[in-house]
Amino acid sequence: MKKSIAITRAVSPRMASCELTHVERQPINIALAEKQHEEYQDALRRLGCEVIHAPELPFFPDAIFVEDCAVVLDELAIITRPGAESRREEVFSMAEVLEAYREKIYYIEAPGILDGGDVLCIGKQVWVGLSGRTNEEAVRQMQYILTPYGYEVQGVPLTDCLHLKSAVTQVADDLLLLNPDWVDADLFPDFDILETHPDEPGAANALLVGETVIYPTEFPETALALTMEGIELFLVDNSEVIKAEGGVTCCSVLV
Ligand code: GLY
Repeated sequence: MKKSIAITRAVSPRMASCELTHVERQPINIALAEKQHEEYQDALRRLGCEVIHAPELPFFPDAIFVEDCAVVLDELAIITRPGAESRREEVFSMAEVLEAYREKIYYIEAPGILDGGDVLCIGKQVWVGLSGRTNEEAVRQMQYILTPYGYEVQGVPLTDCLHLKSAVTQVADDLLLLNPDWVDADLFPDFDILETHPDEPGAANALLVGETVIYPTEFPETALALTMEGIELFLVDNSEVIKAEGGVTCCSVLV
C-alpha cells in the first residue's frame, strides 16, 4: 500500500454546532461520535495506516473533518482556505503536521476558497468541485500550483451536495462510486461508474485504502452493489458524522 500515514483529529465537544448546508440539524451524540471515530481509526490501522493525531481543536465544531484542510499529493501539500468562515483557522495546525511529510507546502490564498472534500485526485488527474465551499479562483490557483508537476486540474459543477466527494469517490483502480443526481458521470470518461442506490443519495462517499474500501453501514443497498462488484469493504458505523454532513473521506488525510 502506497499511502500509510493517516492524519486524523479528535471529535470536538461542540460538533453538534457544526456547519450544515444540505441536511437538517439533528442531535449528535458526542460520546457515540467519539466511539465511532475510534473505530474508524482502528479500521485505518487494520488496513496498514499509522494514525497521526493533529492537535485537538475543541472550539471548532467541524474539526474532525481534517480532509477539508489540506490536499496531499506525492510531491507536495496544498493547505486550503475553507469556504466556511467558521473553519478557516482549522488549517494552521494541519500545515504544521504536514511539514514533517512534505517539503513543498503551498497555500490557497484569498479570494480563493477551497475545501479538501472538493478535491478528487486520481493519478495525475485532479477534479475540483465548484461547490458552495470552493470557487473558480481556487481552481485557478490549483492549476497554477499543480500544472508544473504534470497534473491536469479541472473544475466540476455540482448540484445539491456539500462537496465533490459527497458525489463521487474512487473505490477501485478503474471504478468510481457516483451519485448521478449530484455530478455528471461524463466528466470521468476513463472510469467505470457504479451508481449509488436511488434510496441512498449520500452513499457515494467511500474511502479507498490500499485495495479495501472503508464504507458506512448506513448505506446497505449500495454496500451490497459494491460487494457484487468484487469490492472488499471494511464497514464502519458512521451515523454521527453523517448527521454532521460528513463522510468517511472527511475524517482523515492520507499521506
Ligand atoms: N459539517 C461539515 C461541513 O460543513 O464542513
